[in-house]
Amino acid sequence: MSSTSSMLNVDDKSVELAVKEGTIGPSVVDISKLYGQTGMFTYDPGFTSTAACESKITYIDGDKGVLLYRGFPIEQLAEHGDFLETCYLLLYGELPTAAQKADFDYRVTRHTMVHDQMNRFFTGFRRDAHPMAIMVGCVGALSAFYHDSTDISDPHQRMVASMRMIAKMPTLAAMAYKYHVGQPFVYPQNELDYTSNFLRMCFAVPAEEYKVNPVLARALDRIFILHADHEQNASTSTVRLAGSSGANPFACIAAGIACLWGPAHGGANEAALKMLEEIGTPDRIPEYIAKAKDKNDPFRLMGFGHRVYKNYDPRARIMQKTTHEVLNELGIKDDPLLDVAVELEQIALKDEYFVEKKLYPNIDFYSGITLKAMGFPTSMFTVLFALARTVGWIAQWSEMIEDPSQRIGRPRQLYVGSPRRDYVTVAQRG
Ligand code: CMC
Repeated sequence: MSSTSSMLNVDDKSVELAVKEGTIGPSVVDISKLYGQTGMFTYDPGFTSTAACESKITYIDGDKGVLLYRGFPIEQLAEHGDFLETCYLLLYGELPTAAQKADFDYRVTRHTMVHDQMNRFFTGFRRDAHPMAIMVGCVGALSAFYHDSTDISDPHQRMVASMRMIAKMPTLAAMAYKYHVGQPFVYPQNELDYTSNFLRMCFAVPAEEYKVNPVLARALDRIFILHADHEQNASTSTVRLAGSSGANPFACIAAGIACLWGPAHGGANEAALKMLEEIGTPDRIPEYIAKAKDKNDPFRLMGFGHRVYKNYDPRARIMQKTTHEVLNELGIKDDPLLDVAVELEQIALKDEYFVEKKLYPNIDFYSGITLKAMGFPTSMFTVLFALARTVGWIAQWSEMIEDPSQRIGRPRQLYVGSPRRDYVTVAQRG
């Protein structure tokens, strides 16, 4: 038996399973033939031990707190790169040359407007609609407008759909915000860079001149880099699964947005800020720590813990630095929420429960404070996450479509319901 296989004994059968090695990280046992050979499935609710695909895009070492996009450490990309460069890297696998970058930026910029009829979708929503509800609807609705980029068998159409989504997501996100606050939509201004353009679409009003603050634009751009991809997380797996049936890319990204919305995933940034507001003052922290530790209380410390990171989330460190930069720039000397967050983190990091379970702050712990200081309402936080994650979803979706071995995703189950039984009429049911 070679070192690239392992033996599994099931009942009286011995099955040889291939072991596949990646470039870094754990190897995988290939169980794709297991059912054929043994008549048994594997069982792994929550996929804690299951790799669903091969991927060259993002690598995480959760024990060491490492995150690499196409091999490049997140810290270096966040420090030196910009978001569109990161998009190029995730999509094409290499950092762009100056000419490639200029061309890519130009192509994205030329797709920033949405079909004018999209405006009518917004008026169909109540003003108090959650902007994530609007995003799920409007991104899915893009497939009704751009028929020339929904044929997934055509690489050119796939590329156009990708450009469209990266470019239009800020426009739609800003429209969702403007609709929510009752202000007129602001059209994109293509002389501006991607993130400055987004800030202007959110915060400019026709009655006044708007000047983008470059420090805030840089900080938000960095936040977008941090959120751009995170390998096979719940929303990305949703996009892959939706795409595996051949659904069009706009519909797949809408599915990803729906999944991201949940508080265990992208919705945690909104939930974390609400939690900090609820705690209010540092003296109430012990009460909330006790609630988080109480098995009979469903409360969890939002922005803490991660399925993969069993060490400090590297994105959280950069986010914490960005929070201080933004608060300094805005002249916010004392933010009571930041005081609560810093102290909560200190207490939790020393608490036996959190230490033992390896629960550290994740990216969402500090992002809410930063986005709130920039002027975004809590309901927009997850929308900003969706905006930034769109490129990751698209890169992963494209990788899947281009993989010749790709098949429809179809998990199996352990059936624990009733065995076969016969129908009885209503009159006969006791
Ligand atoms: N507060 C208190 N206890 C926690 C927390 C928390 N935030 N997170 C996990 N635990 C406990 C949990 O009760 C369990 O205890 P026990 O073993 O005694 O039953 C143990 O730690 C393991 O938790 P789990 O739920 O089995 O772990 P998971 O990998 O299924 O869940 C998670 C990961 C992120 C959903 C979870 O840590 C959580 O709910 N955190 C709060 C929500 C949050 O901040 N989510 C953002 C994730 S980062 C951004 C993103 O990727 O979207």
